[in-house]
Amino acid sequence: MKRLGSLFLMFTLLATAASSAPKKKRATFDPSLPLLGTQFHTLPDGAGKETAEASCLQCHSADVLAQQRLNEKQWTASVEKMVRWGAVLDDAKKAELVAYLAKNFGPENQFTPIKVRM
Ligand code: HEC
Repeated sequence: MKRLGSLFLMFTLLATAASSAPKKKRATFDPSLPLLGTQFHTLPDGAGKETAEASCLQCHSADVLAQQRLNEKQWTASVEKMVRWGAVLDDAKKAELVAYLAKNFGPENQFTPIKVRM
């Protein structure tokens, strides 16, 4: 009898849990869009590219660099901040890297983000 009672209790609990479970919303997105996290941009050629690839792409994609519109002073600050955050950069390569970033991703940069699905 004890066993039957606990079976009944289990059934009641399960039935209650099933009926009160929130209805799952279906995700709606355009499946033709690329997934968030897809890498779209590679770095342009030029002196400083190798340093940028070695020092700047461990933690984020090249898109994070390519979407900026910073002048040399702002890039210097950005690079120094990234070094404080853990980027490994040879001090002797810093000036070349900053010049490369300012040349390619300066205030005139025409970056257009690509739509993604979440
Ligand atoms: C140790 C990891 C790491 C490395 C290496 C790194 N970054 Fe970052 N970076 C980050 C994080 C974390 C963010 C913030 C990302 C976010 O907000 O989604 C970021 C964001 C940025 C941004 C966006 C603006 C901002 O300040 O948040 C720029 C520009 C940037 N990084 C440039 C660089 C450059 C240039 C290098 C190479 C010298 C570099 N990063 C290397 C971690 C890193």
